[in-house]
Amino acid sequence: MKMKNIGLTGVALVLTLMSSCTHSNNDSTDKNVDNQNAVVETIMSRRSVRAYEDRVVPRDTMELIAECGINAPNGMNKQEWEIRIVDNPDFINGVTELYIKENPDAAKDPGFKNMFRNAPTVVFIGAPDNTYSGVNCGLLGENMILAAWSMGIGSCCLGGPVRFINSEEGAEYLKQLKFSEGYSLIYAIGFGYPAEIPEAKPRDKGKIMFVD
Ligand SMILES: Cc1cc2nc3c(=O)[nH]c(=O)nc-3n(C[C@H](O)[C@H](O)[C@H](O)COP(=O)(O)O)c2cc1C
Repeated sequence: MKMKNIGLTGVALVLTLMSSCTHSNNDSTDKNVDNQNAVVETIMSRRSVRAYEDRVVPRDTMELIAECGINAPNGMNKQEWEIRIVDNPDFINGVTELYIKENPDAAKDPGFKNMFRNAPTVVFIGAPDNTYSGVNCGLLGENMILAAWSMGIGSCCLGGPVRFINSEEGAEYLKQLKFSEGYSLIYAIGFGYPAEIPEAKPRDKGKIMFVD
């Protein structure tokens, strides 16, 4: 009986200690952080855009966006990536015509202009196939996406259209991108001035966990 009491007291003590530890961690807030700063605001307000105004992004603006891209962190600063910026309607409409032959339903989307979710400018990202190419190119792309959004330019990552360009049917357009030997097209991002601001897609905060 006595042992049982000691046991319960011990459990209570451990629980109290655990909860006080958890508390001290959870209570740590940095009063000097402006949690509404411009970067946080840009990240939180960004949406994938699939409807654009009928004007291309000026090339000097795209150059600045691309420069923001290549300033992303990357493995050992090897910069194993290549960016191809396409705003030529002959390319965009030409490959779209081929795409529609294979996927006629795509053109039935309301407001359909091209296979790149209607973007007037498309950035293609290439890299050699190695362990970190996905990380490097992902960081490069997100830098471009956020820089663009901060300038009022919308974007949408594009996996589907890239699958087509990497297929036999899209080969002539892949060639036009002139990636270096050993580089493959990883993904693309469409850019343009938004003609829509979609609702935020829900995010699951349950994916975040502090490990004590
Ligand atoms: C690797 C990747 C590929 C994607 N491919 C496409 C695509 O082919 N077509 C499309 O409309 N959106 C595509 N998206 C955009 C996602 O659907 C979008 O980011 C996601 O639904 C979250 O919405 P949000 O970007 O507005 O927050 C892609 C995104 C990523 C990261």
